[in-house]
Formats: sequence, C-alpha cells, structure tokens
Amino acid sequence: AKEPVRVLVTGAAGQIGYALVPMIARGVMLGADQPVILHMLDIPPAAEALNGVKMELVDAAFPLLKGVVATTDVVEACTGVNIAVMVGGFPRKEGMERKDVMSKNVSIYKSQASALEKHAAANCKVLVVANPANTNALILKEFAPSIPEKNITCLTRLDHNRALGQISERLNVQVSDVKNVIIWGNHSSTQYPDVNHASVKTPAGEKPVRELVADDEWLNGEFITTVQQRGAAIIKARKFSSALSAASSACDHIRDWVLGTPEGTWVSMGVYSDGSYNVPTGLIYSFPVTCKNGEWSIVQGLSIDELSRKKLDLTAQELSEEKALAYSCLS
Ligand code: NAI
Repeated sequence: AKEPVRVLVTGAAGQIGYALVPMIARGVMLGADQPVILHMLDIPPAAEALNGVKMELVDAAFPLLKGVVATTDVVEACTGVNIAVMVGGFPRKEGMERKDVMSKNVSIYKSQASALEKHAAANCKVLVVANPANTNALILKEFAPSIPEKNITCLTRLDHNRALGQISERLNVQVSDVKNVIIWGNHSSTQYPDVNHASVKTPAGEKPVRELVADDEWLNGEFITTVQQRGAAIIKARKFSSALSAASSACDHIRDWVLGTPEGTWVSMGVYSDGSYNVPTGLIYSFPVTCKNGEWSIVQGLSIDELSRKKLDLTAQELSEEKALAYSCLS
C-alpha cells in the first residue's frame, strides 16, 4: 500500500475549503489509490467552524483519509506536508484600500512562507489560491528561499477551465473534447484567455477553435470578457464567490502537476517567469505548461500575434505594479 501524502489546506473553514477537503479525501486530487492525511489551518475566530469540518470528515468515513490535523497553529499545520494548498487570506472588504488588503496578505504569506520553509517535507509543492493569488505566491517564494522556485505556483486553472467551458457551450461540444486554451498573466480581470492554439476533437479530426467558431469578433471580445469577469458574475448570482469550481480546479492543478498532463495537452498554471515569451522575470505569471514526473515546463514556440502581445504585456504590467505595492507593504 502507498504511504499517505500529507496535504495542507489553509483557510480550511472557508467556502472553498469546505468544498475542497472532501474532494481531496475522495482521491480527486491525487488519485483513487493514494491515501491522504489532511492538515487544515484556519485562524482562531474560525477554530470552532474548523472543528466542525473535522467532525464531518470523520462522519463521512472516507476510506482514503488516514488522518486529520485541524489547527490554528501554523507550525503544526505545516509540519511534514508534501502539498500545500493556500486558500486562507484576507478578503477585500467594502471601503478598504487596495494597499491595506495587500498589506494584510503580504504579512500572512510572509509568515506562512517561513513556516513552510522550516517545517514542510522536502520538495513540498505549493499552490496559492487566495487572492491576489499571483502576488501572494510571489511573496511566499521570496520568504521561503530554500523551497525550489519551481515548487511555488498559483491557481489560474479555474480561468482555464472557464475558457474551456465557454467554448464548449458556444460550439455545443463536450468540454472534454476542447483543449489547449491558455490563460496568460494575472488571475484578475487583466488575464488574457487565448484560443489561438486551442482545438476541438471532432469526428473529422482535431480542428482549430478559431475555424469552428468562425466569429473573431466574439472570440476577441465577449469570450474574453466573459472569462475575465466570470468570478464577478458568480458573486452576483450566488452572493458568494466561486467555491466548488475553485476547489475542483485546484484538484485539477495538483493532479496534473503530480501525475502529468495527457500527451498533446497543456494546462495553465501561474509559475515563476523565466522570461519565456518576453514576460519579465521576477513575476508569478500564468503560462501554458505541460507536466511530467512531477515537474511543469512552459510550452515553448507558440506564435504570439500583435493583439495577443499587447494583452500579455498589459497583464504583466499589472503584476509588476502589484509586486511594487506588495514590496512597499514590506518596508
Ligand atoms: P472564505 O472567506 O470563505 O474563506 C477564507 C478562510 O481563510 C476563512 O475561513 C478565514 O478564516 C481563513 N483565513 C484568513 N486568514 C487566514 C490565515 N492567516 N491563515 C489561515 N486561514 C486564514 O473565502 P473563500 O471563498 O474560501 O476564498 C478563499 C480565497 O480564494 C479568497 O482569497 C478568494 O479571493 C480566493 N479565490 C481564488 C480563486 C482562484 O481562481 N485563484 C477563485 C476563487 C476564490
């Protein structure tokens, strides 16, 4: 039998946490033959709710779940973890300045970075979900210098999956037959959902999405804004932000990273830029990646047209500004 993998979920008493922990315990993230031990962290005001989640995990009698640590102590939470899904953070509240929210999250991610660096298992893989996801991941990377930078990522898979969903609805095809969309840049409304290399499996073979949709106005306009604004549309409809789709996409992100992407398919992940596609280094930026043997690599050599170039640069610009703001909170 396989040794259990320890998976940390921070903010586990929150909405995404509540959707995510049962998925992990059922093997959605790491496979149906992989036992897991869940580490759940939240803050003291949420301790009672967190304990309630732990009670429900016990009650659900998940065969793969070999243990549950539910704590408000960051060291206990981080000790020995192989995978860390960082969902906890400080939400933006009405009337708050951007800088104040950034400042709270910078201090959270700085201290959690140190705890992971000191106490997580060697080669721990980190996925930051909490917003501002790219910049929180960057702060975590900066303050956990002994964790390899390749191990620190942020979630843009939800945006990627939203793009697949929109194409599938438009063409009335199975979402599983659509592939190779790309989310470039920030997990924010400046992200660029790009279908220039996307294709659909049809009875007549693989066809480019651009050819099948045959409506560049929609693809360059409403499609992009729908994906960019989807988070806000969900809040408007549900009065809460996306939770089940965020949790499911976080599982997709880790599963593909650990177990590999299918041949000929790429996914989007926020990773530390190495300068590919002339994206500035020093940012956590969403790229198309393939994964093999537990490592991602950026898909190289894709053509970038003029419209795309502008959009890649615009979202990089926003990330540089966020980075500067985050650094100004440190001093
Ligand atoms: P939520 O407010 O329901 O849950 C957040 C939880 O984090 C709360 O239980 C809170 O007590 C906890 N928390 C706060 N500070 C903490 C700390 N220092 N350590 C540990 N836990 C802490 O929020 P929800 O809906 O679960 O969303 C979580 C985050 O995910 C938000 O930042 C949200 O913006 C982000 N998000 C990101 C998405 C993505 O695609 N990257 C998609 C959807 C949401």
